[in-house]
Amino acid sequence: MQKTSRLLQASRDLCIPPLRRGLATATTTTTVRATPLSERFGAEVSGIDWSRPLSPEVVRTIIELQNKWGVLAFRQTNLNDDGHVTYSRNFGALETAHALNKPRRASSVHLYDAGNLGPDDKIIPQHSRAWWHTKANGLWHTDSSFRQHRSSYSALRAVELPPAGGQTKYADMRTAYLELPQDLKDVAKNAVAEHWIWHSRKLAAPGEFEKPTEEERTAIPPAYHKVVQLAPDGVSDTLYVASHIRKIVGMSERDSTALIKALLDHAQQEKYQIGVKWKNVGDIVQWDNRCTMHRATAFKDQENRRDMRRTTVFDYGNAAFGVKHELGRSDVDLLVGGSRDIAAERTPETQTQQQIFDL
Ligand SMILES: [Fe+2]
Repeated sequence: MQKTSRLLQASRDLCIPPLRRGLATATTTTTVRATPLSERFGAEVSGIDWSRPLSPEVVRTIIELQNKWGVLAFRQTNLNDDGHVTYSRNFGALETAHALNKPRRASSVHLYDAGNLGPDDKIIPQHSRAWWHTKANGLWHTDSSFRQHRSSYSALRAVELPPAGGQTKYADMRTAYLELPQDLKDVAKNAVAEHWIWHSRKLAAPGEFEKPTEEERTAIPPAYHKVVQLAPDGVSDTLYVASHIRKIVGMSERDSTALIKALLDHAQQEKYQIGVKWKNVGDIVQWDNRCTMHRATAFKDQENRRDMRRTTVFDYGNAAFGVKHELGRSDVDLLVGGSRDIAAERTPETQTQQQIFDL
């Protein structure tokens, strides 16, 4: 009862006054309302007219709400692929989605395919490499932390939903950092983590991804980011961790493994989590990868179709490009076992924002 009344009060507090819209819609006003999904993390946002371009004021309001709540759920936007991409461009340049192990189905190169359907529009068969590849989506992670140019927002849209299961869970990394034991804070404070997508693939599917292929390793090499960072709200510190983390730079294998485990065990506690149910086709959930983690949950993936498409916005904050790290031979392959691999290469130079827009 007490919790409910607090949430209702917070909802009232967040009622944003009517906003003037952009040129094409200057005579229209709307009220954007955020209803919290928990005391301090996640909110469902209503009052946005998705049939028209968003005005700069509404975009700013969404960014403010994102900074406050980390995860925003928008119901029944009815956006199609083009509308989805156009919406996300309000927040910056978009990643080009990789299509490794799973050829792209969506109409735009900026839409990552997060569903269980193949290019032939059929359910991806169990035990295929594409099927194994998606298993790591069930581990706690943050999107694209394995890129040296990391991402800010992910916006995931439901195109086709299974009758049951498949909700997405989110974890609040600002609160997780706040409550991190001081001894771990001391160790994590200056730590740099190596994020490698093929590490999380191996964790989720050790038989299939014992050794990533040459093509996979070359296409997505590891990236390096600080473990503790200033959150996008400009006030809070946050943990930037994920199941993609293979090692902590400069630590022995034993210490590195122990620290990664301690940080992830702490960050994955139920008290930091919320679950968002997908209710309708056209629902979008947008989260800030810089201060949250998320994971997919199970559904009957050999019986039911699930088509989910995601845009991913490049970060342009102070930590967007992470930490450039010159790798030594002793730094590589601590946890993957193997010898010469991608880690012997330098991290790639990233594109400028203009280059990305020119794609
Ligand atoms: Fe993800």
